[in-house]
Amino acid sequence: MQARAVVVREPGGPEVLQVHEVDVRDPGPGEIRVRVGAAGLNRADLLQRRGLYPAPPGHSSEILGMEFAGEVESCGAETARFRPGDRVMGIVGGAAMCELLCVQEREAVAVPAGLQLQEAAAIPEAFMTAYDALSLQVRLATAEWVLIHAVTSGVGTAAVQIVRATGARSIGTSRTVAKLKRIEACAPDATLVVPEGKFSEESRRLTGGRGVDVVLDLVGAAYLSENLASLAPQGRMIVLGLMGGVTAPMPLGVLLSQRITLIGSTLRHRPIEEKIALARSFERHLIPLFEAKRLRPVLDEVFPVDRVRAAHERMERNENVGKIVVAFST
Ligand SMILES: NC(=O)c1ccc[n+]([C@@H]2O[C@H](COP(=O)([O-])OP(=O)(O)OC[C@H]3O[C@@H](n4cnc5c(N)ncnc54)[C@H](OP(=O)(O)O)[C@@H]3O)[C@@H](O)[C@H]2O)c1
Repeated sequence: MQARAVVVREPGGPEVLQVHEVDVRDPGPGEIRVRVGAAGLNRADLLQRRGLYPAPPGHSSEILGMEFAGEVESCGAETARFRPGDRVMGIVGGAAMCELLCVQEREAVAVPAGLQLQEAAAIPEAFMTAYDALSLQVRLATAEWVLIHAVTSGVGTAAVQIVRATGARSIGTSRTVAKLKRIEACAPDATLVVPEGKFSEESRRLTGGRGVDVVLDLVGAAYLSENLASLAPQGRMIVLGLMGGVTAPMPLGVLLSQRITLIGSTLRHRPIEEKIALARSFERHLIPLFEAKRLRPVLDEVFPVDRVRAAHERMERNENVGKIVVAFST
């Protein structure tokens, strides 16, 4: 069988993206085959298109895509959780931007009631990443302060909502005032515009001089010393992205004297059993919050798959607030 997919045959700019028919296999034991309605776009797709971030072993390096929402089309042997017609979403190591996608059924999560597939496609990467980081790794507690960088990003807009649902408080940074105005519906408790990457003094002022309990960092090297200077004693910092560079001098004295915990994390290259455990925990704890409308996907723009180049260009220009989604169906 064949299906349309977003394909990259040679690395380069958005012009190398093509939509082609590709061969699709049958679902194996424990797998479901999903008719993908929409797939969220991620920074990692941009890097992979440029040849800088290969998919993990076992995933097509030609077909882009790390998350999906769709309808179960068929089920392989030894499946029990889903049936044809069920609506599912999830993260995968690669090749999600294909109209028919085989995934382990234990990795998939039921789409929350009341959401369209295009909305659901904006959930998995952003919310699973933020949930895993804040709730499972950092163990965020009520009334703590979290500094969220690039707060208008997909991950940032999800993190703000998880902080609020935990009863904690957030300070969100962005380099762009106009974009901060566009997140009013899921705004952090305070925002800082940081075109020069300076935020530690203001973070301390906003927290009564104490500093923040947690930094959720998507920027990396450019913000490292300011991040450490923003943290309260025994603060935790989790690095999820390196948009501002990979290498920076580390002021180890601050780490020691403030007893800071530094964590690095990524989802894509984890063993499948860890991804399944995350999906199950996410389903148990966060899906009810979507159904109660305490969490909601933040959709920037939906591009039909034929306009996938325009979708990449928009993200590359840093114009999106929340998630860009690529749709296979209307
Ligand atoms: N570790 C994981 O498991 C994981 C999972 C998902 C995503 N990520 C990472 O998280 C980051 C955000 O991903 P996303 O898809 O949510 O991003 P996104 O929606 O594309 O938003 C990124 C935003 O970050 C800001 N930005 C870009 N370059 C910057 C720089 N050099 N310094 C400071 N701010 C910068 C821009 O906003 P302003 O112009 O408003 O500042 C941009 O719009 C990426 O690095 C991505 O790879 C990690």
